[in-house]
Amino acid sequence: MLTIAVKAARRAGNIINRSAQNLDLLHVSQKSHSDFVSEVDGAAEEVIIKTILDMYPHHSILAEESGTRGNQVKPEFLWIIDPLDGTTNFLHGFPQYSVSIALMHKGVLNQAVVYNPANNELFAASRGHGAYFNDRRIRVSKRTKLADSLIGTGFPFRDFTHMDAYMAMFKDIAPRTVGIRRPGSAALDLAYVAAGRYDGFWEIGLSPWDMAAGCLLITEAGGLVGDLEGNETHIERGNIVAGNPKVFGQLLQVIAPHLTPALTSTGVPSTAAS
Ligand code: IPD
Ligand code: CA
Ligand code: CA
Repeated sequence: MLTIAVKAARRAGNIINRSAQNLDLLHVSQKSHSDFVSEVDGAAEEVIIKTILDMYPHHSILAEESGTRGNQVKPEFLWIIDPLDGTTNFLHGFPQYSVSIALMHKGVLNQAVVYNPANNELFAASRGHGAYFNDRRIRVSKRTKLADSLIGTGFPFRDFTHMDAYMAMFKDIAPRTVGIRRPGSAALDLAYVAAGRYDGFWEIGLSPWDMAAGCLLITEAGGLVGDLEGNETHIERGNIVAGNPKVFGQLLQVIAPHLTPALTSTGVPSTAAS
């Protein structure tokens, strides 16, 4: 099944790479504030879904652009797809974007691929078999102190509901680290945690397709992921903290004082993650 996910990601990557050479010719529409979609997102998603369903016609799909297909009530196999994570970067010719494909089996993440077609970097994982970068085994970093850590994040840019809480976290985290990065593709950010390029990561308001593949990469690389309190609601609620085990714990401690009721695992979110 990982082979099919890799094949689908590479096919989508070919479409993305071809279009990257002619960005001016692209038709782009706006879904909402700062939320753009191009014909490339749709074409990449179509080829991914076709590749999967040709092989596994009875599997279910949850994809960013076309929504759901097949049984969604406790599906045995559910593919979670972001055909182009980092569309804003792509549209600006900023080569930090990815194809993200994950497979859940009975509600548990089972296979994952995150692929950056701009530099041909492919991150893949199978449950119980570790995580790989271009066929080389990867592990999360070994840094034990937040003070030595490079941390990734995503700034709010569409939904500003949690801006104040986010900025309070940022103000508290930034001076305790060696640096913060915001490259603009959450799926790649999580893959970078798995590969030890970052020691930790946090973001508010993501969608399942931004996170699913990256989460399996991290756990298979020996890291931890959770929501802003470290609980396992991150995929459903969209708020995520990730890192190597030591840095994960330290990030949670710094974030804790800035949590509003809507940002806790049990609180009613003020807006649903879109
Ligand atoms: C976005 C990217 C970005 C993150 C956003 C996502 P998209 O995905 O992952 O890094 O900050 O929250 O929505 O819309 O480009 O697929
Ligand atoms: Ca995305
Ligand atoms: Ca996308």
